[in-house]
Amino acid sequence: MTDKRNPPIALEDRAQDGAKLRSPSAERNRRVIAEQLSTLLPHGASVLEIASGTGEHALTMCRARHDITWQPSDPNPASRASQNAWASDVDGQMLPSLDIDTTQVDWAVRLPQYDVIFCANMIHIAPWEAALGLAVASAELVKTDGMVVLYGPFKEGQDTAQSNLDFDISLKSRDPRWGVRNLSDVKHIFAKAGFNRCDRIVMPKNNQILVFQRS
Ligand SMILES: C[S@@+](CC[C@H](N)C(=O)[O-])C[C@H]1O[C@@H](n2cnc3c(N)ncnc32)[C@H](O)[C@@H]1O
Repeated sequence: MTDKRNPPIALEDRAQDGAKLRSPSAERNRRVIAEQLSTLLPHGASVLEIASGTGEHALTMCRARHDITWQPSDPNPASRASQNAWASDVDGQMLPSLDIDTTQVDWAVRLPQYDVIFCANMIHIAPWEAALGLAVASAELVKTDGMVVLYGPFKEGQDTAQSNLDFDISLKSRDPRWGVRNLSDVKHIFAKAGFNRCDRIVMPKNNQILVFQRS
């Protein structure tokens, strides 16, 4: 079991250059994610990223879209230091990282509203309460015409890819509270938070981008 107060940083070895961390998985998927996300974000969007990890998705997006402002966050101090180090490469577009753990009560109080909340590869590597906390707070944090964008693997009953079933078993062996989430459960908690519309983009390696909006 993992310590609730100290969630693990990642399931991979990250290279380090000063405070800057490099994630092998982010290196593999950051361009394809940025390509899709670039088409979704409205001009001048303010984005809150939950679980920014090394900060490489934030960096890639700020380089792709000079009109946006990106608020990274993570409960892990080394990850926040990495995000702040990468931020110096994009001249004010990436704000100082926030210490956000979505399992904490009231994590969203005192935050402004955002056009978009983006969260990649978190809800399966955290207790289900992390997904719930994200959905519930999104109701307040996301502007009326805004969106929540999730990236990761999902289970879809009989249609679930074998690699995602294997990943689910491996995650649960590390921490029984983790696991690849059922798409229907994720849709349900966001619908309860007012995000009734869910558009999906199929991504490489059996991942998906989910775009939640109010209908
Ligand atoms: C696998 S990494 C993904 C990092 C990055 N989003 C990416 O896709 O490369 C999972 C991240 O989730 C963060 N995390 C774990 N539990 C969390 C929680 N309850 N709230 C917010 N972030 C959490 C970890 O600190 C870690 O940075």
